[in-house]
Amino acid sequence: MPRSSEGERRRKDPYYKAAKKAGYRSRSAFKIRQMAKSHNLLHGVDIVLELCSAPGGWTQILRELNSSLKIVAIDLDAMPPVQGVHFIQGSILENDVIEQAQQLIGNTFDLVLSDCSPKVSGQWELDVVRQLELAERTFEIANQVLGPNGKALAKVFQGPGFQEFLQDMRKRFNTVKLIKPAASRKTSAEIYLLAIGPRRKAQSEKK
Ligand SMILES: C[S@@+](CC[C@H](N)C(=O)[O-])C[C@H]1O[C@@H](n2cnc3c(N)ncnc32)[C@H](O)[C@@H]1O
Repeated sequence: MPRSSEGERRRKDPYYKAAKKAGYRSRSAFKIRQMAKSHNLLHGVDIVLELCSAPGGWTQILRELNSSLKIVAIDLDAMPPVQGVHFIQGSILENDVIEQAQQLIGNTFDLVLSDCSPKVSGQWELDVVRQLELAERTFEIANQVLGPNGKALAKVFQGPGFQEFLQDMRKRFNTVKLIKPAASRKTSAEIYLLAIGPRRKAQSEKK
């Protein structure tokens, strides 16, 4: 889409306007607010790991919904501070970045959130593959850091590989749901996958 029509689309977008007015850093803030409400995401949650958090719209909403949440946020890009949030600048693909987050908390997490998008290449199929890699990495991290009834929510593009990914998630978590919040553009292939209760292999099976 040419730059001028993208600007035009933004100016007409009610969520873009509402985000500006409310001082949210992204229109995406409304997506997490809607999903938190419709799926009671923060119920029983004290500690959150937020992946791909910059510029921080989701983080602002988390803070607004529960001022006592412990939050660790990670992004490749810098992120302006949000009160009481530990921010780590780094890639979620790096194990030591995730270990740093675990050490900060010294406990398991109750919720992992991920709104990752790769840098757009302009080639749809390549962008879908890269996005799916980030979603797969999110659930791998979730398996590693969540407590037994923990939840993970991640953005996924519905494109090549999506159905296989979904089947795999159903094997790896007790409950899997797909969510399309009202603030997500109907024309966008994005959808959010909520997975609850990691199914971990018993120690004896791992060997
Ligand atoms: C759509 S934005 C997230 C918006 C955020 N939810 C908000 O409301 O402000 C996607 C983010 O994914 C981040 N990202 C992409 N690949 C990453 C990686 N490997 N590690 C960490 N962050 C990554 C980008 O830097 C970008 O900030």
